[in-house]
Amino acid sequence: MTTGANTVGDVFSAGAEEFHLWSGALWDPVGAATAAVAAPTAGESVLDACCGAGASALPAARAVGPAGRVDAVDLAAGLLSIGERRAREEGLDHLRFHRHDVTSWPVTGDGYDLVQCALGVFFFPDMDRDTAALTRKVRPGGRFVVTVWEKGALDGWQSALREAVLMERDLPHRPQRDQLARIDTADTLAAWLQDLGGSVPRVVRRQFDTPLSPATAWTLATGSGTRGMLTGLSPAAVERVRAEFTARIAAAGVTDLDVRILTGTASFTG
Ligand SMILES: C[S@@+](CC[C@H](N)C(=O)[O-])C[C@H]1O[C@@H](n2cnc3c(N)ncnc32)[C@H](O)[C@@H]1O
Repeated sequence: MTTGANTVGDVFSAGAEEFHLWSGALWDPVGAATAAVAAPTAGESVLDACCGAGASALPAARAVGPAGRVDAVDLAAGLLSIGERRAREEGLDHLRFHRHDVTSWPVTGDGYDLVQCALGVFFFPDMDRDTAALTRKVRPGGRFVVTVWEKGALDGWQSALREAVLMERDLPHRPQRDQLARIDTADTLAAWLQDLGGSVPRVVRRQFDTPLSPATAWTLATGSGTRGMLTGLSPAAVERVRAEFTARIAAAGVTDLDVRILTGTASFTG
């Protein structure tokens, strides 16, 4: 594998194939849960921020129908092309994928009825400032919906990966972990939405387990943001991390991925 990618878009793009292997078991159910809380209706306009391969943009596009519009925006070209293909296969012409930094995505008119962002805000360089920029793309009275990992999510898988990487190098600083830690409970997420100017914040929790084998555990490690932990390692070092990680997953008896998410929603004055 290539480990030279640096920016978040490059990291996700380089791991796009592995990412999509997890669409059915992970990203799509999380996207469906996000869209279920957002509850887009026929004819609405939607901005899907950090859309990846379309996990939440696709259900939103089905719900708004051809009278509506979904702009799905991400930095990772590799994921956008998978999303485009999926939309084409379903004939969802009103779902458009765009390669852009979503925080500077231009909005015309009053803004979107709905701005939704699944598992994306903690990757922003400055989560408060950059999410505030997203909320300004909501039309007056429209809603902002955000899904994040709940505290404890993916724990067994994540600790095995961190321990395996530590055998090879110091862990690179991952600011997204610190940002996520500020909003990974129902209370802190609701308070954050309120601080951003949202009214009547509500948080819905969802938990499910999905089967994990040492091989699929590695696919997830290289197909998500954790791929960045391998950046700069030689192919031989990456192979040692893989062997150590998969051995640890097997030894610890981690046979499921513990998926826990929180979806927060609030209305904004735009
Ligand atoms: C964990 S993935 C989630 C993708 C998708 N929402 C899903 O749930 O399947 C995070 C995504 O955020 C994107 N991202 C991070 N910062 C971004 C930014 N400033 N603008 C656009 N996309 C961004 C990454 O490229 C990546 O595709």
